[in-house]
Amino acid sequence: MSDIDSRTEPRPVTPSTILAAELREVTELLADVASIPHELMSRITRMRDLAAGLDPYLERCTTEESSALAALSQRTHTADWASRPVEQEMLSGQVEGQLLKFLVHMTGATRVLEIGMFTGYSALAMAEALPPHGEVVACEIDEYVAGFARESFAESAAGARIVVEVGPASETLRRLNGTSRPFDLVFLDADKTGYLDYYRTLLDTDLLTANAVIVVDNTLMQGQPYAPADGRTGNGDAIADFNHYVAKDPRVEQVLLPLRDGVTLIRRIAV
Ligand SMILES: C[S@@+](CC[C@H](N)C(=O)[O-])C[C@H]1O[C@@H](n2cnc3c(N)ncnc32)[C@H](O)[C@@H]1O
Repeated sequence: MSDIDSRTEPRPVTPSTILAAELREVTELLADVASIPHELMSRITRMRDLAAGLDPYLERCTTEESSALAALSQRTHTADWASRPVEQEMLSGQVEGQLLKFLVHMTGATRVLEIGMFTGYSALAMAEALPPHGEVVACEIDEYVAGFARESFAESAAGARIVVEVGPASETLRRLNGTSRPFDLVFLDADKTGYLDYYRTLLDTDLLTANAVIVVDNTLMQGQPYAPADGRTGNGDAIADFNHYVAKDPRVEQVLLPLRDGVTLIRRIAV
């Protein structure tokens, strides 16, 4: 495979795409085995088709992304990330972007905090759903991707509603607490080992409005919390611990949606 090919083929990084890839390989392996009963082969083929067709179907049945989001996605897809600590698979994409837009509309949010921006797909999606006076404050540690995102934001009217804060998010949150007006919606999507600290900071400071919603990405972490293939990675452990902590936290109620790599919605029910 050439460099260009490997740059444009995203790896499967969600439970459903990993499952689809596994079933495709198993089906190919079994196709050469003459003794496989027809009934078994047709059931495995059905499993493969159910898994492989899910994400494309979700995309077809979800509102199309704006031209600005499509352009940002394409720029991210064709950039060379090989020498960088980030990768194109980090971009959330059309279906999750549309969920975030829906949540901004449903909550009537005017102030949104993003922790982990990458090239800006989710920040721009949420900004598109905000009223003209709304604002997304987007935290990103990597200078290069922050610059990459700003270039895309400059090409879209909604991009003017995004303020990028470059640096470790823990420091940015500390600075924002007390100096910024509180946030109605938070999208948490940065380093997974930092999730618990970010969550505790959000609940223990004045960063949130009383009815704020926290949206947390990658809470299924490729299935590692419930079905580790060869043991869990550090990120798998971190997400398993995070999910356990939130599930036991009496201050909140939450739901884990099996969308993409898992999205948990959290809201405070007691102070
Ligand atoms: C999964 S990506 C975010 C994807 C983005 N939300 C989207 O939907 O396209 C995670 C990002 O968090 C950033 N990040 C990692 N650790 C961070 C930290 N301590 N503070 C701020 N950003 C961090 C990474 O550089 C990366 O760009």
